[in-house]
Amino acid sequence: MDYNTFYNHSIENSEKFWTEQANQIEWYANPNTILAKDENDYPIWYPDGELNLCYLALDKHIQDGYGDAIAMIYDSPVTQTVKKYTFQQIKEHVAKLAGGLQSLGLKKGDTAVIYMPMIPEATFAMLACARIGVTHSVVFGGFAPHELAIRIDDCKPRVVITASSGIEVDRLIAYKPLVDEAFELANHRPKKVVVLNRKLGARVPFKKYDVDYEALVYGSEEASCVALPATHPSYVLYTSGTTGKPKGIVRDTGGYAVALKYAMTCIYDAKPGEVFWAASDVGWVVGHSFITYGPLINRNTTVVFEGKPIKTPDASTFWRVIAKHKVSIMFTAPTAIRAIKKEDPNGDFIKQYDLSSLRIQFLAGERCDVATLEWYQQHIPIPAIDHWWQTESGWPMIANMMGIETLPIKAGSAGKAVAGYDIRIFDESGEEVAAETEGYVVIKLPLPPGTLMDIWNDNARFQAGYLAKFPGYYFSGDGGYKDQEGYIYITGRVDDVINVAGHRLSTAEMEEIVASHSAVAECAVIGIEDALKGQIPLALVVTKSGETIEKFQLEHEVVKLVREKIGAVASLRTVLVVDRLPKTRSGKILRKLLRNIADGVDFQIPSTIDDPAIIEEVAYNFKINKIGVFNR
Ligand code: COA
Ligand code: AMP
Repeated sequence: MDYNTFYNHSIENSEKFWTEQANQIEWYANPNTILAKDENDYPIWYPDGELNLCYLALDKHIQDGYGDAIAMIYDSPVTQTVKKYTFQQIKEHVAKLAGGLQSLGLKKGDTAVIYMPMIPEATFAMLACARIGVTHSVVFGGFAPHELAIRIDDCKPRVVITASSGIEVDRLIAYKPLVDEAFELANHRPKKVVVLNRKLGARVPFKKYDVDYEALVYGSEEASCVALPATHPSYVLYTSGTTGKPKGIVRDTGGYAVALKYAMTCIYDAKPGEVFWAASDVGWVVGHSFITYGPLINRNTTVVFEGKPIKTPDASTFWRVIAKHKVSIMFTAPTAIRAIKKEDPNGDFIKQYDLSSLRIQFLAGERCDVATLEWYQQHIPIPAIDHWWQTESGWPMIANMMGIETLPIKAGSAGKAVAGYDIRIFDESGEEVAAETEGYVVIKLPLPPGTLMDIWNDNARFQAGYLAKFPGYYFSGDGGYKDQEGYIYITGRVDDVINVAGHRLSTAEMEEIVASHSAVAECAVIGIEDALKGQIPLALVVTKSGETIEKFQLEHEVVKLVREKIGAVASLRTVLVVDRLPKTRSGKILRKLLRNIADGVDFQIPSTIDDPAIIEEVAYNFKINKIGVFNR
C-alpha cells in the first residue's frame, strides 16, 4: 500500500485501522471496544481487552516454536563481554525473577523502581515486572541520588532493583551507595533493594533491606504471566518538564503492545528474526520501546550495548557491533554520529567492517542536522531516516514509514506524519498556519494507542501541560513547520526543556539548583547550540550584594552542585557571573533573548525590555568568555 492511502485510512477510519492493528497481537481477551473516553473525555484504547507484555515478548515465541532463537545479544566493550540469550533462557530467568519479586510481596498494582546500567538484567527486571502486573519505573543510571529520591517519592516503589555498578568509559560507577543515599533523601522507604552484584570491584555496602538478585532468581519458582487489562499502567517513565519536578509519563499495556508491533513493522520495517539495535539506554523511552518491548514482541534479536559510540575503545565500536552481530536495522541519536565523525572524519573505521547486513539507519532524540545526515550517507549509502517522537508518545509520530513506502528523504525534515497521527501546525491562537510557516506542533485527539495516559498522580498537570493550550489537541512542546508536500520540520522546543546529547533536561530544574547556592541572588539557565551535543546548558548568575566569593570559585561550586543534584549527564560546565540579567519591565528574565545572542541568531528586541543597553552588555560578556557563536 502507498503511504497516502495508508495514512488516510488511519485518520478517516481510525477505529477500523486500530482494530486491524490490534489483530496483529495476541490477547487473552480480545477487545470488543476499540476506543472509549475517560471521565475527562480523554481517549482510552481497547478498555476491555486483556493481555500481558511479557507473554508477547517471550512466552508466545516459545509456544510458536522459536524458543531456541536468539532474543538478545549483550555486547559490552567496557567489560569485553558478548553474551547471547535465547527466548527460552530469558523466559526462565524472567519468570523466576518475577516469582522472586512475588515472594517479596510484590503484586499487580504495586510499583518497582529499576536503577541499573545497560545490562541484560535491566531488561529482565522490566519484563519480570510486566509479567506479574507490577508497574515499573526505570531511572537512568546517570541521574544522581537526589533525582532518584524525587522519583521514589513520586511513584512510591515497594522495591528498588539495582546493580552493584555501571561503567562510564573507563571509570566504575558504584550504584549501590547512590541508592542508599537516595533512601536517606527520600520520604518514602521501599521495603527491599534487590542488588545484582556484577563483581567488578565496586563497593557494595550491605543494608538490612538488601536482597541478592542471583539468590532471588535461583531460589524462586517461575511465575506465570498475569492477564492484565489493556489500561493497566505498564510503566511510569519520568521526563523533564518546564518546572523543577519531573513528570511521570504513564503508559498503558494494550495500546502500547499494539503500537509497538505496528511501529516495528510499518515504521522500522523489521522482519521477525532480524537483528535490531537501538543504541540507547533503558533509562530513556527508546530503551523501553525499542530495546526491550518492541523488538522482542516482534520476535527480533535485540542488542543490549554497554558502551559509547567513541572511546569504548574508539570510534569503530558501532561498526564492529553491526558487522559482528549482523545488525539489519539500527537506531541512534545524531549526536552519536557527530561524535564518531569528529574522531573519524574520513570514515576510515567504517571501511574496515562489512556492514552489508545493515538495511536502514534510524536517527532520533534531536533534529538530525544536514551535515550529519550527509556525512552518514556519504560513508554508508543506506537510507538514514530521521524520525520524531517523545517520551510522551512512546513511539514515532513523524517518520518515513519504511514498512509501508519509502518516501524520498528530505534532509532537515523528520518525514511525514506517521499513520494514526493527525499532526497540525498552529499559531498562538490555535489557527492552523499555512505551509512553510513555523508554529506549534500539535496533534488532534485522540492520540493513537500506546501514547501517554496521564501524568502519575497529577492529572491536573497532564491537562494543563498538554491539553489546555489548544482544546481538542495535544500540545507537543515543539515548534516546527510543514512544507507543501506535508514533510514536517521540527525546529526545537518552545519551552524550557533542552536537549543535551539526545538527553532531555529541564533548565528550570537546573535554575532551582543554581539558585539554591548561598551566594546566588538570581540566575538563568539556557540551552545554547553545541556542535557535538546539539545543545548544552549555560548558567548566568548574579551574586547577592556584598557577596565576596571569587568568581571562579562560585563557578566551580555551581557546576559541582548541579552535578551532585542532577548528575554528570546535565553537562553544565559553563557558569558566568554577571552584574545583571536582561528582564522585561515586569521583571521576567528574557531567556530567549539570551539564547539568541549566544547562538548568533537574528532577533527583534522585545518591546517589553526594561533596558535595551543590556543587549550590548550580554554580547560583550559572551564574547570575552567565548560563549556560543563567539567560540566558533
Ligand atoms: N551513569 C553515570 N554517568 C553517566 C551515565 C550513566 N549511565 N551516562 C552519562 N554519564 C556521564 C558521563 O560519564 C559524562 O560525565 P563527565 O562529565 O564526567 O565526562 C556526563 O554524564 C555526560 O555524558 P554524555 O552526555 O554521555 O557525554 P559524553 O561526553 O560522555 O559522550 C556522546 C558524548 C555524544 C558520545 C554521548 O552523549 C552519546 O553517546 N550520546 C548518545 C545519546 C543517546 O543515545 N541518547 C538516547 C536518545 S536516542
Ligand atoms: P524525549 O522525551 O527525551 O524523547 O525528548 C523528546 C524531544 O526531543 C522532542 O520533544 C523534541 O524536542 C526532541 N526530538 C526528538 N526527536 C527529534 C527529531 N527527530 N527531530 C527534532 N527533535 C527531536
